[in-house]
Amino acid sequence: MTLPESKQSFLYVACQHGAAAGLKTALCEPNGPFRLAYSARGFLTLKSALSVPLWSRALPEHPLIRARGVVVAKIEGSESGPMIQKVLEITKDIDWQTCHVWQRDIADPGWNGFEPGGTPLAWLVAEQFKTALACISPETSPNHPDPNAPPRSVIANRPSLEVQAPLDPFRSASSKLPKVLEIIIDEPNRWWIATKTAQQTFDYWPGGVPEFPIPEIVLSRAYLKIAEAFAWANLQIQPGEKIVEIGASPGGACQWLLDQGAAVTGVDPAEMDERILKHPNFTHWRSRSLQVKRKLFRPFRILVCDANVAPKYTLDTVQDIVNYPTTKLRALVLTIKFPEWGTAEQIPEYIQRVKSWGYSDIQVRQLAHNRREVCLVARNRVRNNQSLPTENHTDPQ
Ligand SMILES: C[S@@+](CC[C@H](N)C(=O)[O-])C[C@H]1O[C@@H](n2cnc3c(N)ncnc32)[C@H](O)[C@@H]1O
Repeated sequence: MTLPESKQSFLYVACQHGAAAGLKTALCEPNGPFRLAYSARGFLTLKSALSVPLWSRALPEHPLIRARGVVVAKIEGSESGPMIQKVLEITKDIDWQTCHVWQRDIADPGWNGFEPGGTPLAWLVAEQFKTALACISPETSPNHPDPNAPPRSVIANRPSLEVQAPLDPFRSASSKLPKVLEIIIDEPNRWWIATKTAQQTFDYWPGGVPEFPIPEIVLSRAYLKIAEAFAWANLQIQPGEKIVEIGASPGGACQWLLDQGAAVTGVDPAEMDERILKHPNFTHWRSRSLQVKRKLFRPFRILVCDANVAPKYTLDTVQDIVNYPTTKLRALVLTIKFPEWGTAEQIPEYIQRVKSWGYSDIQVRQLAHNRREVCLVARNRVRNNQSLPTENHTDPQ
């Protein structure tokens, strides 16, 4: 086994299964700078023409990337014990602070109840790695061979999202540390060792999947999407802040927003779950968004849209609301649904369109809990451009 050199030639990107083809096209020659080296569903390694330092800040960027890093080595074996020993050997000269252990997705989000995140195998490997590190430096486990170095942590997400579990103390103590070592379980007998300097919120999460407490009853998967969207974009909710959601039924996202202390209005012609309807801070406008007078959007500061309509319809609808003179939305959280995967190529146009409404800070990401869709968050409205016409679209006042 060769020791890692300070410079590598390969990077990895992880994504949702269905997003891999689009990512290959966008990142690999002739459109991008890389050559495809290895491809599994939801996990690609890319050869770079230039050598890449272990702690490079120039990591691949694309809305469909869920996690990314610099590949150090591939490890193959039939038992985890010897594989862990290989990890120790390969990484002994690497000055990492947090280790993420995670497993490549086995399915698309929502398929047969599958959600990206912790798996029993990743959890087991993380525990074994912690134990192996403790054997190297038994004083304070898991620790650094250098007693003067800050403590290291090894984290894997919890295997089940269904149970509300307390956060791992190692995680909360050190999740801000930027040098991340990764053990990526591609197959039980094939792991990849990677490094990254955490730069964006999702770089701090194992496999780019956040972990948050989940109540026993969640009204829909949209609960996971909205919790992830606000965590990823670091968007805070003020107590009692007025938030409107277009496409709110049955109410998973409203449930989370209400739990955060917001006053929520849901716009949807479909029925809301009665537990949401009974909430004192919830109002249901039972109609399509186009039937709601635009002046009624005046009290809201955040608009969430999760309507199952084409991207153009979502953007036309939101544009009408945003550009109405009395609207004062400080943030938009839009789910852009793709009729087909090829629609992802139009993300730059969607960003330009939202920018033209005056928002200067726009981020787009395929959230771990998104299906064939992405989340667009827009903030910091610097001007009120009211003159944009909406194509083929009328909204009764
Ligand atoms: C994916 S579901 C929304 C899930 C929801 N966000 C939750 O938290 O449970 C999509 C919803 O969009 C609604 N919808 C579709 N077109 C709409 C429109 N023009 N105005 C309002 N709601 C719409 C549908 O009735 C459907 O309930």
